[in-house]
Amino acid sequence: MTTDRTEAARPDAGRGHGTAARVLHWATVVGLAVILPAGIAMTGEGFRSASSALYVLHKGGGVIVLLLVVVRLIWKAGSPPVDPLPETVAPLERRWAAGTHALLYGLLLFMGLSGYARTVAGGFPIELLDVVGVPPLLPEMPGLAVTLSVLHSFAGYLLVAVVALHVGAVARHAWVVRDGVPGRMWPPRAPRSGSPPVSRPGEGRGPGEREAGS
Ligand code: HEM
Ligand code: HEM
Repeated sequence: MTTDRTEAARPDAGRGHGTAARVLHWATVVGLAVILPAGIAMTGEGFRSASSALYVLHKGGGVIVLLLVVVRLIWKAGSPPVDPLPETVAPLERRWAAGTHALLYGLLLFMGLSGYARTVAGGFPIELLDVVGVPPLLPEMPGLAVTLSVLHSFAGYLLVAVVALHVGAVARHAWVVRDGVPGRMWPPRAPRSGSPPVSRPGEGRGPGEREAGS
């Protein structure tokens, strides 16, 4: 039996996140897809000849990801709440999802800030910031640099694990539950021509419901 994906795709998953939130989410994903492998390769044994270039890429990319996350959090704080998750997501899973998202934001902020502080406190340059004329914002503190280096590495692997949980949960909703949750963040936001409206006819928004923007 085939599943009617147009009906099953988004029974009540709401309009999901706004365009800016989606752009920032996927820009962060692309940034991480560059800096995570670069960070692991540059500290490993196999890429010694490219190590310097990978450091430049990782530090510059890390600063950009940090800025994206800060912009995302500011944007989220100023946006109306996103539509609630569909009823296919049980209360415990909602709490789990909220906790995972908060942990992702926290880890991303920590990674960016610890990477920055570890580098500057260790007396190393951040080439991207040098190019745009941003001076070091911290004095050299070798002891702090060593501590942050350990924490940055540890939290980096924790981030990889939490991202795997997040992607696993999204994949489950895409291919097992098939309730339209991935479409809340998957581009594009607007339904393609020919696909049904996200709210079914006769299911207008309630008086208290606001347009999703976060
Ligand atoms: C969200 C942002 C970031 C992520 C996810 C990230 C991730 C990582 C990972 C996975 C490693 C390898 C750890 C290891 O194999 O031991 C690493 C190492 C490193 N990262 Fe980042 N990083 C981020 C931001 C930054 C920033 C902004 C800087 C500096 C401007 C930076 C500087 C470094 C340095 C210098 C290392 C080498 C390890 C050390 O000596 O501390 N990172 N990073
Ligand atoms: C690679 C690193 C990733 C990070 C750091 C990340 C981070 C996040 C965060 C923080 C949120 C919460 C958004 C908010 O409510 O403010 C979120 C939501 C979401 N992400 Fe990711 N994500 C990543 C990868 C992915 C991937 C690869 C997919 C798809 C396969 C995905 C699909 C989604 C979906 C569908 C939502 C919306 C869930 C909802 O509406 O409740 N994410 N992501």
